[in-house]
Amino acid sequence: MNSYSFKAKNSDEMVKLGGEVAKIVMQNPAILFLEGDLGAGKTTLTQGIAQSLGINEEITSPSFVINKKYYREEKPILSHYDFYRLENNVGIMKDELSEDVSSGALVVIEWGHEIDEILPEKYWKARLTQDEKGDRDIELMEIKK
Ligand SMILES: Nc1ncnc2c1ncn2[C@@H]1O[C@H](COP(=O)(O)OP(=O)(O)OP(=O)(O)O)[C@@H](O)[C@H]1O
Ligand SMILES: [Mg+2]
Repeated sequence: MNSYSFKAKNSDEMVKLGGEVAKIVMQNPAILFLEGDLGAGKTTLTQGIAQSLGINEEITSPSFVINKKYYREEKPILSHYDFYRLENNVGIMKDELSEDVSSGALVVIEWGHEIDEILPEKYWKARLTQDEKGDRDIELMEIKK
C-alpha cells in the first residue's frame, strides 16, 4: 500500500501541500477522501489541490450545496463534495458521484464515507490531525478494495 506522511505548520503550507497531494493522487479515476475533525484543514488542502490544477476560483466549503464542480475547457477537472450536512445520507448523491468518478474529474470528499458501488479498485484517503503545537499531520494512503 502506498502511503505518505506530511506536516503543514500553517495554511500556506497546507495549500502548497495540496499541489503535492494532487500529483500523487491524479489518476483516472481518482477519488480522495479527506478525514479530520472540524477545522482540520480539509478545505484548505482542497484549495491547494485546485490551485495546482490551474483553478483560479476560491474553493469554499460546499457544505450548503454539498457539491461544487470546477471546469477546464468545459470538462470537470475537480468535483468537491462536503457531506457534513447530509450526515449518513451520502447514498442520495450516489449517481452524481459515480458520474463524476467516470468523468475523469478528481473527486475530493469531505465528511464522506465509502460507498462500495462507486469506488474504483484503488482510491485515496488523507487523514488530517493536529499535533500538540497545532501543526497538522497529514497521512495520505492508497486503499485497494
Ligand atoms: N496546517 C495548518 N496549520 C494551521 N492552521 C491551518 C492549517 N491548515 C488550515 N488551517 C486553518 O484552519 C482553519 C480551518 O481550515 P479548513 O476550513 O480548511 O478546515 P476543514 O477541515 O475544511 O473544516 P470543516 O470540517 O469545517 O469543513 C482555517 O482557518 C485554515 O486557515
Ligand atoms: Mg471544510
